[in-house]
Amino acid sequence: MAIQWFPGHMHLTRKAIAERIAEIDVVIELLDARLPGSSANPMLAELTGHKPGLKVLNKQDLADPGRTALWLAHYNAQPATRAIGLDASQTAPARQLIEACRQLAPQRGGSMAKPMRVLICGIPNVGKSTLINTLVGTRKAKTGDEAGVTKLEQRIVLADGFYLWDTPGMLWPRIIVAQSGYNLAASGAIGRNAFDEELVALELLGYLKRHYAGLLEARFKLDAVAGLGDEELLEAIGRQRGALLGKGRVNLQKAAEIVMNEFRSASLGRITLETPEEFGQWLAAGQLL
Ligand code: G4P
Repeated sequence: MAIQWFPGHMHLTRKAIAERIAEIDVVIELLDARLPGSSANPMLAELTGHKPGLKVLNKQDLADPGRTALWLAHYNAQPATRAIGLDASQTAPARQLIEACRQLAPQRGGSMAKPMRVLICGIPNVGKSTLINTLVGTRKAKTGDEAGVTKLEQRIVLADGFYLWDTPGMLWPRIIVAQSGYNLAASGAIGRNAFDEELVALELLGYLKRHYAGLLEARFKLDAVAGLGDEELLEAIGRQRGALLGKGRVNLQKAAEIVMNEFRSASLGRITLETPEEFGQWLAAGQLL
């Protein structure tokens, strides 16, 4: 298996969210717009499904806009759910969240008598600290995405009678299908020691070749990538970028790093690794881990 992922302390997070949820009006779940299905932790839905939910597809500036529209429509069709796309570093869109929460729980949030209580959750690296910092306007939020770091619970006052709680504990990704593991690894949500970069890069190239061949060809100055095998493609990219070992052999590890870095920074272009339909098919195909 390419991904060796053993998230710790989820039971503590589960307990802490379960204790808090009764007094929460709206749950904001931050998802990575490039992999919305894979970046959701199903445990959160189990614990908070009865509350109005705002799905925030963050990093939309890196994602394929057409596919973001598909995901937004998918979530907006669910009961008591709203979804919006976001670039968390931009102040004005982040403030739309406050308005969206007010629409989800209209009886709340207007006065001190009925304060709005919002819980914000998301797996590490999805942009939660960036968003909280943008909302608060200072660098108050703590990042705690190192394994074993326990975050202190935080309550932030965003506006009159509008309170935001950060997730108590860490919401680690939960990999339920193999493809989600690859996508999480490619996005940077999983520590690099937990996976084989070459395998993840090959999976990523396999997908990009089928869905974003033009972007690969333009970025790496290659022709007809759809006709290449995944390993041939990785080799061609390594050669193109001068990632060579002795005797003209390609340094595949280096080539894999190049592919992943250029995907993560969107130097390759705006890419989304799954559609709602594909994600549904992966679940239905039962490639459960
Ligand atoms: P977390 O608290 O959920 O763990 O995530 P955090 O805010 O630390 O964000 C993780 C990385 O994602 C950061 O980049 C951050 O700048 C970036 N990021 C967050 N939201 C967005 C977004 O909407 N669009 C884009 N393009 N990037 C976003 P980093 O390279 O780890 O750090 P730095 O470059 O900010 O120092």
